[in-house]
Amino acid sequence: MNENEEMMFDKNDDYFNDDFLDNQSFFLKGIDNMGWGIKNRLSRIFNPKTGRTVMLAFDHGSILESTTGMDRLETAVLPLIHYADSLMCTRGVVRTIIPPTTRKPVCLRFSAGSTELSELNNDCIINIEDALRLNASALGVTIALGDKHEAKMIENLAVAVDNGYKYSIPVMAVTSVSKQDRDASYYAMVARVSAENGANIVKTYYTEKKFSEIVNKCPVPVIVAGGKKMPEQKSLEFCRRAINDGAAGIDVGRNVFQSSSPLAMIKAISAIVHDNLETDDAYQLFRELSNSIDN
Ligand code: 5RP
Repeated sequence: MNENEEMMFDKNDDYFNDDFLDNQSFFLKGIDNMGWGIKNRLSRIFNPKTGRTVMLAFDHGSILESTTGMDRLETAVLPLIHYADSLMCTRGVVRTIIPPTTRKPVCLRFSAGSTELSELNNDCIINIEDALRLNASALGVTIALGDKHEAKMIENLAVAVDNGYKYSIPVMAVTSVSKQDRDASYYAMVARVSAENGANIVKTYYTEKKFSEIVNKCPVPVIVAGGKKMPEQKSLEFCRRAINDGAAGIDVGRNVFQSSSPLAMIKAISAIVHDNLETDDAYQLFRELSNSIDN
């Protein structure tokens, strides 16, 4: 690459630059040409005022049995749902734990399969009629590129997207939990492949380096999983950086449920996502809230 070509590459690096977004009428990128139903459901998951979401995730039990902090789902989840914008869970948990009076949109885990006791990702998808019965606002389908079940997962995504268009339910590609350390170029590929196959939202992991490339190369909104438990301040810093780098929200489970104060933590994350608090202010808020909640 000569110097001129390099400069051109740099200039065009921000694929979804302000000009492009200014010409979109819907508040989420890549959704302009979708139908009313998909836009309405996405407007329930993402706050149209900020274009972002705090998705409370408690679908871990479908592959990991019970996870610390989520052993008793009803006591862990119910006090928090008011402070989340959307809920990510399985159909079993929707029917057994979530009150049908809730107004929170559900991103339903739509793929199901093997657990960590054998091999992960040998998945099928559930019946679209059940997603309709549960009034799902989105369908979450696992994607793990490079896995031996890759083709099956892409097929599952394609079937979910076909059903999603048929019934106007957006599809979220859920980048699989991986035991391997993956870098931004891997997650950028998962995000791009998922969007090219029709996903309307991509959930991925935050990478210390080049996270904005994942966002910029993906034509639909990218949200970030909370990941393994970290100290609260670090987790808040990580959320702040993800939002600064263009994430459209946080899909968080363990860093809330395993916090010393889950309620304070979800409120502090929400303050970063929707009120643009800096990390130090959000951590201060976490400390104040956890003291007042605990006392
Ligand atoms: C598990 C998932 C989770 O929903 C997602 O990873 C968010 O949870 P956590 O913040 O604990 O990583 O996809 O399969």
